[in-house]
Amino acid sequence: DLIKSPDLSHTTPLIIGHRGAAGEAPENTLASFQLALTHGANALELDINESADGALIVCHDHTVDRTTDGSGYIHQLTALEIGRLDAGSWFGESFAGERVPLLADVFAAIPADIMINVEVKCAYSPRLSAELQRLLSEFGRLDTAVISSFSHKTLYRLKQDRPELRVGLLYVGDFIDHSRLAELSGMEVYSLHPYYLSMDADDVAQAVSQGLQVYPYTINEPEQLQRAVEAGFSGIITDYPARLREILETR
Ligand code: G3P
Ligand code: CA
Repeated sequence: DLIKSPDLSHTTPLIIGHRGAAGEAPENTLASFQLALTHGANALELDINESADGALIVCHDHTVDRTTDGSGYIHQLTALEIGRLDAGSWFGESFAGERVPLLADVFAAIPADIMINVEVKCAYSPRLSAELQRLLSEFGRLDTAVISSFSHKTLYRLKQDRPELRVGLLYVGDFIDHSRLAELSGMEVYSLHPYYLSMDADDVAQAVSQGLQVYPYTINEPEQLQRAVEAGFSGIITDYPARLREILETR
């Protein structure tokens, strides 16, 4: 008989694969996103920067130096130039030939019921805003993607341009009342993305009671993952989706 894993797709917390499964595959590549899903993630986090010709490039750093065989600032390279780079070999030879994906490539490859948390690393511009909106509309992800950034001003401007966007505040800080951050931002906020050590179970309950989703980053150690599950977070951002899945399956 087939032994089926429990279906965790609609349970709390969401298993949010950080840059895919960045602990086990080259971050922010299709291989990493696919591995995250294979390991049980039901949501993905990724980072975007803007190329010289306005394409949305899935890459954490402002340069391609650390994660590819090329060099240079993303905003000074074209999508074609970035598309030629090897984004896998630095992590391991078995990943040689992996490419730096466009956001469009990820949206096309990942099933629509997987929540994608797009973290904006580049500065706001009307061109960025228009391209992000275009892709979210074209791939039917306006209602399901969450756009986050440490730059709350960037989120504010994006949301002014397109009020339906779901936005999430990224931050570090031990605040007395985390949900006040959402109020002070001057916009409707979907989610809080705190550094994971700055919230305890009471903080989480308080924010959730205000209608906020809470997605802490980035929790990797099994004991910390266990603690985060007990704290009641809405989703957990991890480089190791398999570890979180195992904890959720055995609880
Ligand atoms: O989105 C959560 C987390 O990814 C933020 O930090 O540096 O890993 O992008 P960083
Ligand atoms: Ca990120």
